[in-house]
Amino acid sequence: MAGKWVRMVTAQTPTNIAVIKYWGKRDETLILPVNDSISVTLDPAHLCTTTTVAVSPSFDQDRMWLNGKEISLAGGRFQSCLKEIRSRACDVEDEEKGIKIAKKDWENLHLHIASYNNFPTAAGLASSAAGFACLVFALAKLMNAKEDQSQLSAIARQGSGSACRSLYGGFVKWIMGKDEDGRDSLAVQLADEKHWDDLVIIIAVVSSRQKETSSTSGMRETVETSLLLKHRAKEVVPKRIVQMEEAIKNRDFASFAQLTCSDSNQFHAVCLDTSPPIFYMNDTSHRIISAVEKWNRSEGVPQVAYTFDAGPNAVMIARDRKAASLLLRRLLFHFPPNADTDLNSYIIGDKSILQDAGI
Ligand code: ADP
Ligand code: DP6
Ligand code: CO
Repeated sequence: MAGKWVRMVTAQTPTNIAVIKYWGKRDETLILPVNDSISVTLDPAHLCTTTTVAVSPSFDQDRMWLNGKEISLAGGRFQSCLKEIRSRACDVEDEEKGIKIAKKDWENLHLHIASYNNFPTAAGLASSAAGFACLVFALAKLMNAKEDQSQLSAIARQGSGSACRSLYGGFVKWIMGKDEDGRDSLAVQLADEKHWDDLVIIIAVVSSRQKETSSTSGMRETVETSLLLKHRAKEVVPKRIVQMEEAIKNRDFASFAQLTCSDSNQFHAVCLDTSPPIFYMNDTSHRIISAVEKWNRSEGVPQVAYTFDAGPNAVMIARDRKAASLLLRRLLFHFPPNADTDLNSYIIGDKSILQDAGI
């Protein structure tokens, strides 16, 4: 094991956007939610995290850099993920480089981790989801931990709840589970990315600034103070989960859009019902909601679903390329990218709609 070698692994993981939101934990350490949730995993070429993990006998402590800046690994979440993967590490042999790491060596070896998000961090576009899923995946590869996707997903969950869904593509459900030890709180794939590939995602980056209230502390305050959350978790979400699964199975866009928009709005209502209230959306977010609602009404049947995570940025899902190119033209007209406003850019899922929209 001695010497000056470095072994490195790089992984890339997409983010996921919830259409039925996770908001509230029943166990803060294991990260067990108060309700099931459903998300769409984005195309890895769209919004993703790239993480390189390196190990070397010359490293004297674990260190991590996020978007080029060193961050602390002291928090319980990073430590949980590192501990879980380290305990599953196996022998590694890289003949080409002459590296041999025995299972027992991993306890004393230190890691350097460098991660980049190709989209705004901590701005409500699920950077924690892509970030922790990617970290766990990369570490497992580095340490030759032979865990399956489901076990890696359960470890990623202990980094950030939403991360457990990013290990799978397509439509994913995070089943809340009942066990105290979290063994049955797992993500499962409902349908793969090919199942409903007409959908086109357009994201309006209304503000790339870091949110004032992190998802973790926001949902903690909601659990402590909101009565509406209890009603949502017990009465509303279980029914919506059944309806959403049905809408996805049947590619029923009208139901999908109605459920997605209602659930986003109820999630933000729950934030308002928190004491003190949490405002994740801003004026532009509200204007986008009104505009999409108006366009959908004028078309007769919904063409676009909108959803906002814990931040002001709008994630819009158009039913097909035609609807997406019309949406983009309308957005550019009514919400033009402008250095003087805080609306700055669009992230487009399927670039070919630029041509369709004549851009
Ligand atoms: P978001 O809406 O972007 O998910 P959160 O408040 O849930 O915002 O989480 C933001 C936190 O997630 C960051 O402060 C950081 O601790 C963590 N995070 C973000 N990106 C990464 C990454 N690439 N690797 C590891 N952790 C990350
Ligand atoms: C609004 O997974 O970021 O994006 O588990 O505390 O890390 P922690 O929170 P996080 O919360 C995500 C909340 C959400 C909805 C969702 O992704 O389901
Ligand atoms: Co997050």
